[in-house]
Amino acid sequence: MVKLTGLKKIKTAVFISGSGSNLKNLIKFSKTKSSPISINLIFSNTSKAKGLRFSNQFNIQKYISSFIDYKIAEAKILNLLKKKNIEFICLAGFMKILSKNFVNKFSGKIVNIHPSLLPKYKGLDTHIKAIQNKDKVAGCTVHFVTAKLDSGKIIQQKEVKISKKDTPTSLAKKVLRQEHKLYPVAIKKIFN
Ligand code: GRF
Repeated sequence: MVKLTGLKKIKTAVFISGSGSNLKNLIKFSKTKSSPISINLIFSNTSKAKGLRFSNQFNIQKYISSFIDYKIAEAKILNLLKKKNIEFICLAGFMKILSKNFVNKFSGKIVNIHPSLLPKYKGLDTHIKAIQNKDKVAGCTVHFVTAKLDSGKIIQQKEVKISKKDTPTSLAKKVLRQEHKLYPVAIKKIFN
């Protein structure tokens, strides 16, 4: 008998630029019964992204296109997404800002994970800012992607306590552990 489990999962692409720990976590989640998504494509704007190794490890197609020319890169990706019937996109440490044209084509179907409690600390260096400002809590946010950086509707957040001993590096590690828990929860929330 053919096992139907998983066949109707939402075809998803994950966009990365770096180490890909969130990607790996999403792949593992996607293989669980309760996941509404399957990961069918890994996209990176750089061949140096360490997370690309998960393409081989989990047998998922990868695609690399530099964003030196945004228009060309986005047109190529849009083509591939269409060809592969990708319906949903998770940004996971993707360091490029997608154009309004791209985002509008996937309106309500692109989400991002950001290492701060948005709307606080949009953009880069969130942990440095939180420590410099002597914040007591930091955290992470999963939100819908719009043309405005880190400003789309918030789906789910998780707080992390900042201790006096924390450095930007130790805080980043603590927050990343929570990111791995938060992303699957937020995705389930979208589709259930
Ligand atoms: C994460 O902290 C994510 O929130 C931020 O970049 C980092 C990516 O980490 N946007 P990884 O590549 O998933 O390990």
